[in-house]
Amino acid sequence: MSGNASTWQSWAAGVVILGAAMLIGYALPHGEIVEPAAPLRAGAPPEAAKPSPEHSTRKTLADFAPPPESAIPNNEFGDVVRLGENIFRHPQQYAPQFVSNDLTCQNCHLDSGRLASAAPLWAAYVNYPAYRSKNGHVNSFAERLQGCFRFSMNGKAPPYGDKVLVALETYAFFLAKGAPTGAGPHGYEKLKKPNKPFDLAHGKQVFAEHCALCHAADGQGQASADGEKVFPPLWGPRSFNWGAGMGQINNAAAFIKANMPLSQGGVLSDDEAWDVAAFMDSHERPQDPRFSGSIDETRKKYHDTPMSFYGSIVNGVRLGEKSPPSGS
Ligand code: HEC
Ligand code: HEC
Repeated sequence: MSGNASTWQSWAAGVVILGAAMLIGYALPHGEIVEPAAPLRAGAPPEAAKPSPEHSTRKTLADFAPPPESAIPNNEFGDVVRLGENIFRHPQQYAPQFVSNDLTCQNCHLDSGRLASAAPLWAAYVNYPAYRSKNGHVNSFAERLQGCFRFSMNGKAPPYGDKVLVALETYAFFLAKGAPTGAGPHGYEKLKKPNKPFDLAHGKQVFAEHCALCHAADGQGQASADGEKVFPPLWGPRSFNWGAGMGQINNAAAFIKANMPLSQGGVLSDDEAWDVAAFMDSHERPQDPRFSGSIDETRKKYHDTPMSFYGSIVNGVRLGEKSPPSGS
């Protein structure tokens, strides 16, 4: 395993240097070539990397760093930013009426929504309104937030204008300060499709080896003495429901490859990430809140893809049949 890790690290270092070189190349007018002298420090691009006004259409989010927590102002605006951050980290405490599982927003959007590899809030903020095939129309940022409550938090969507929604919008706006709008990319970075079917037995083995230590052998996570879930559940009644993005194997594989085991993103091979994602998403979890009463119908309408196990038979059990109720 350590062999893999060091290969990955030198690969990643190469990509960082190459990326820096490309940024500098883009920023210079008329194709001048410079030597990338040293790897760039995150959040502090040298003068040459700053796009000139005539190249402003080439702005990307690649070198963006959100403002630190200490930059939250001490005024009424800042109070709402802080409320949004608290909701993001502790929704059971700050928005209990809208959540009915043990997850927090930051469980999946790591480092309080700041980490670039975990669908950060600042990148999302500047990429909405956006069309989503999930519901077939252009979604405002607020509507996108509602979706994560309904599915990922197995809860209820806060109504438009609700204090909770406004606070999360304000927190995301604060994190996105100075980011170019519409620059993309956002969400989790997609993982190349595997050229073989998912191997659940291999996924189970990867889980035992790399995940069970924290998320527990039964996938239900672990709580500290005061009852707070320090390691969140990956399936079962207290995890995200069947309608959630993380229940799609491609989203889960992308998240896991980049971020799990925690703080060791990149150590799993692509095949390991795909198979452990498939293993995780082949377990029972709360019902899809759009459930029509028929598993076949619900599968056809919302899960008609090889990236969802909803409605499939795994170990003799039809997934979706014994789902605990959804939160809404
Ligand atoms: C060292 C402990 C640790 C290990 C090992 C680990 N995780 Fe995690 N995982 C965490 C923590 C902690 C979080 C929540 C992060 C946060 O809130 O900042 C998390 C979050 C997650 C989430 C999103 C939240 C949820 O419950 O759905 C998924 C999915 C996940 N891990 C999958 C995995 C998989 C798959 C593996 C094995 C490849 C793995 N993790 C290994 C600690 C770990
Ligand atoms: C179980 C994991 C999970 C939890 C918990 C979760 N999310 Fe998400 N979230 C996702 C996934 C998966 C996506 C889709 C990412 C993609 O499209 O690549 C997403 C997307 C988003 C987006 C849009 C990102 C983009 O770039 O388009 C926002 C905003 C968001 N979530 C906010 C929240 C908020 C606020 C909460 C808490 C109320 C929350 N999420 C809880 C998994 C989660």
